[in-house]
Amino acid sequence: MNKDIAEILIPEAQLHAKVAELGKQITDDYAEKNLLLLGTLKGAVPFIADLARAIELPLEIDYMAVASYGDTTQSSGIVRIIKDLEGPIDQKHVLIIEDIIDSGLTLHYLVDMLRRRNPLSLCICTLLNKERERVKSIQVDYQGFSIPDKFVVGYGLDYAQRYRNLPYIGILKPVVYEGQPRPETQHQSPAEK
Ligand code: IMP
Ligand code: MG
Repeated sequence: MNKDIAEILIPEAQLHAKVAELGKQITDDYAEKNLLLLGTLKGAVPFIADLARAIELPLEIDYMAVASYGDTTQSSGIVRIIKDLEGPIDQKHVLIIEDIIDSGLTLHYLVDMLRRRNPLSLCICTLLNKERERVKSIQVDYQGFSIPDKFVVGYGLDYAQRYRNLPYIGILKPVVYEGQPRPETQHQSPAEK
């Protein structure tokens, strides 16, 4: 185990089993539909790569990169688009693939913006859902795991851009970020996303 990890919350085998299960559900639900998996960069990359291979349907994959503005505007949930989709989505059933929902602000903004582009449908699939009070409520259609309100890394999730390559989801030792801004605020800067 990586020395900075206090505890493995979700081991690799459990992640893979859950991804297979979600893939089956999505395969059933989207048969005959023009499906676009919309991954959010960078955290959702390992998840979408595994999930796409567990879905037995023709589908497209595209990515968006978004960053919240700094702390002062965080409560307004204004999000800046760093990379947009390549094309229109009005003929597509869009499934947003997220790594984690925390406050709900990022996704709330994203959903709002995508709805205005008139997709045939718009649903949300998140690997992790933090058990905390949301700033914005989000309707989650597919969820991997509900997790405690701790800062986690691995399988795409980072702290200061590191640990994304860990094959499991782990709880970061607080000593790693002690004396630094809290990770929850650090990842709000565009460079950290
Ligand atoms: P929200 O707008 O607060 O829901 O923020 C969601 C984003 O914050 C995620 O896509 C992650 O990039 C980041 N995030 C939230 N919690 C964690 C965590 O525990 N570890 C790593 N990144 C996190
Ligand atoms: Mg993310």
